[in-house]
Amino acid sequence: MPKITFVHRNGQESTVEAENGKSVMEVAVDNDVEIEAACEGSLACATCHMVVLDQGRYDALPAMDEDEEDMLDLAFGLTKTSRLTCQIRVTDELDGIRFQVPDDA
Ligand code: FES
Repeated sequence: MPKITFVHRNGQESTVEAENGKSVMEVAVDNDVEIEAACEGSLACATCHMVVLDQGRYDALPAMDEDEEDMLDLAFGLTKTSRLTCQIRVTDELDGIRFQVPDDA
């Protein structure tokens, strides 16, 4: 199983094994990462926003569709490597990726 690291607001990190096919948001919620994910993945809230901590890893992710782009625009603390994690499926290619919880998500 691929390993994903979440960097919490307090700077602590959790590295967890992620099940292929789940969304990164689901993996985060299962592991008590402090995101709200209020709409549970239906692309209606932007509270699953996280920042990919490496430009190369961000570039290698499957591209955002227009609906994700529109919703992501509403997220707080947006960066150029921001994504909505409910829209990213876990695959082996994600192994070693790091996601930062934004300050005011
Ligand atoms: S959980 Fe609401 S947009 Fe991702």
